[in-house]
Amino acid sequence: MFAQMQDISRGTLNVSVATTASSFATRMISAFLKQYPATTVRLDVTNRGTLIRQLENNEKDIVIMGKPPEAMDLVGEAFMDNPLVVIAPPDHPLAGQADIGIQTLQREPFVVREPASGTRAALEKLFSRCQISPAIQVEIADNEAIKEAVAAGLGLSVVSRHTLELDLQAGRLVILDVEHFPIARHWYLAYRRGKRLSPIALAFKALVFEQAPKMAEALSP
Ligand code: PGA
Repeated sequence: MFAQMQDISRGTLNVSVATTASSFATRMISAFLKQYPATTVRLDVTNRGTLIRQLENNEKDIVIMGKPPEAMDLVGEAFMDNPLVVIAPPDHPLAGQADIGIQTLQREPFVVREPASGTRAALEKLFSRCQISPAIQVEIADNEAIKEAVAAGLGLSVVSRHTLELDLQAGRLVILDVEHFPIARHWYLAYRRGKRLSPIALAFKALVFEQAPKMAEALSP
């Protein structure tokens, strides 16, 4: 145990997280640095497509992403829910309505993430299953900018409930009660099977699992 603490005390953790996971990853890192103050964390925030490439090339100690692709030989351990919801500005005609049928979305313009995003893929899968294809008004590779665009009335969007904490509190955005939502995604810690995690990566992994229940409650009160 003491030997492991020694190894961790000054190491560097190279972690890469999905764009959407940045809403909580920095808080996880803050808790990690309280326990291991002399370590350095290099955090990369990128979309699912790039995370998959980084995993293929074994570039990172550990990755936080949506469901890892089954075709790859990876270890993927789920640690927290990631509900995806439909958002609108508070003055939108659908705001406050109960049980909105998904077909209603067909006539609404959408603001969506870029094609390599996991959120975008989950949205497209549901829309294709329900045979709807709402018009894409704007495509943006950033959740904060998407929320701004929705608040400005450019269209509806689907984002992780975990990115909305402050916007809901401030009354800038509302969640619509749409059939088939929330889409139930999950957050995973992932790395290549057979990879020997460094002591610092193992310590971070343990902390993520320990913090996850608290984090889930803080993100979706
Ligand atoms: P994204 O990933 O930020 O690339 O959309 C999140 C996810 O896979 O759910």
